[in-house]
Amino acid sequence: MSTIVVVGLQWGDEGKGKITDYLASEAELVVRYQGGNNAGHTVVVDDQEFKLHLIPSGILYPGTLCVLGNGVVINPGVLLKELNGLKQRGIDVSGIRISDRAHVIMPYHPSLDQLDESSRTVGKIGTTGRGIGPAYVDKFARYDSIRVLDLLNAERLKERLQEILITKNKILSQIYGHPGFALNVILDEYLEYAEQLRPMVCDTSVLINQEIKKGKKVLFEGAQGTLLDIDHGTYPFVSSSSPSAGGACTGTGVGPTKINKVVGVIKAYSTRVGEGPFPTELADEMLSQLRDGRGREYGVTTGRPRRCGWFDGVIAEYSVRVNGVSDLVVMKLDVLDQMKTIKICNGYRYGNSIIKEFPGDLDVLAKCTPVYEEVPGWMTDTTGCKTFAELPAAAQNYLRRIEELAQAPISIVSVGWKRDETIIIRNIW
Ligand code: IMP
Repeated sequence: MSTIVVVGLQWGDEGKGKITDYLASEAELVVRYQGGNNAGHTVVVDDQEFKLHLIPSGILYPGTLCVLGNGVVINPGVLLKELNGLKQRGIDVSGIRISDRAHVIMPYHPSLDQLDESSRTVGKIGTTGRGIGPAYVDKFARYDSIRVLDLLNAERLKERLQEILITKNKILSQIYGHPGFALNVILDEYLEYAEQLRPMVCDTSVLINQEIKKGKKVLFEGAQGTLLDIDHGTYPFVSSSSPSAGGACTGTGVGPTKINKVVGVIKAYSTRVGEGPFPTELADEMLSQLRDGRGREYGVTTGRPRRCGWFDGVIAEYSVRVNGVSDLVVMKLDVLDQMKTIKICNGYRYGNSIIKEFPGDLDVLAKCTPVYEEVPGWMTDTTGCKTFAELPAAAQNYLRRIEELAQAPISIVSVGWKRDETIIIRNIW
C-alpha cells in the first residue's frame, strides 16, 4: 500500500501543481478531494505550461487514472472545456473518473457568489467568484443541491431544478435585482453536459479502494491550503471546503488507516490572495521583488496580484500539526536568491506577550506583529543545484531553520519552475 496526500500549508498557491506532477510520475491514480475550479495549478513540461483548474495534475502522464472525488464541487461546463483544451494539445484524457456523489455547480452558484461579494461593503471575503461557497452551502443545507448522479437522471434533474429555481430565483430577484434563470435553458445545457460526462462517472470510492488493495500508488491532491480550510483556516476568510489532510478521507471515501504519508507543501516565503490578516505581509520594495521578480505572484485562476510576505514559522508549525505532515516540500527557494538578508518569523508579539501558537481569533491575529530573526541571504543562483549539498551554505541553513520551526523534515526543495529544477533529499514514495 502506498498512498500520499499532498496538502498546502499556507493560503494556497504553494506550488502544489509542480510537486503533484512530480509525484504523479510514479502514481497509478491521482485524486482530487475538495474544492472546485477556484483552484489553479501550473505545471511546466518541456517548456509547455499547463494551467489546470479541476483536472488532477496526473492527467499529463498517459495511463494514469485521474479521479474527481465526492468532496469536489464540479462545474461541468468548465470541466468539459478543460478536457477539450487538453485533448487539443494532444493529451490523452481517457483516464478521468468522476464521483457519482460529487455535487454540481449550477449557473446560479457563481451569480450568487459574485452578487453576494459585490453587495457587501464590509466583510468581503475576496472569493474567486466561481460559485464554490454557494455550491457547498447547498450541499450542507441538503435541500437544494444537485449531485452528479442527479445530473444523469433527466427526469429527476427536471423535478429537482423546478423546485430549486423557485427559491433561487426569489433570492436572485428580490435581494439582488437579478433576472433569475429559466428552467429549460439550464436543462438543455446540463443534460448535454450529462451525456458527455456519463462515461466517466462511477463510484470512485470503490475504484480507489480497489486500487489501494492491489498495492497501486495513489496520490491525493489537495487544492488551496490549510489556512483556507473551513475548519482550520483563518475563518471566515477561507474557502468552503476541507483542503487539510483529513479532507482526503471524507472527500474520497477512503479511510484514515489507508493513508501512509502526508506531504506538506510550503513556499520559502508567504503569499495570500483575497482578504484577511497576514502577519508577515510586506508593503515595501521587498514586495515587488517577490511578486514581480522570479516569484511571478499573480493568481492562476483570477490573475489577481498576490499579497507577499516573509516565511512564517508559527503558521508552518500549526499546519504541520493539523495535517500530521510526514514530509515537507519547500517551494520557490530560488525566488530568494538575490535577497541580501532574509527574515523569518518565529513568533507573534501580541500586547505584552509572545505567542508561538497560531491564534483562532482573527481579531487577535490582526493585532499580532511578527517577531523576526534575520539571516544572511546567499546571493547566488540556485536553479542549477541538483543536490542539497550543492546549495550555498546560507540556503542550507535557511532550510534547516524551516525544519526546526515547522518540526518536520524536508524531503524535496524546488529551485525553479521546471520539472528538473528540483532537489530530492528523500524519496517520498
Ligand atoms: P472561494 O474559494 O472562491 O470561495 O474563495 C475564498 C477564499 O479562498 C478567497 O480568499 C480566495 O482568494 C481563496 N482561494 C480560493 N481558491 C484559491 C486557490 O486555489 N489559491 C489561493 N487562494 C484561493
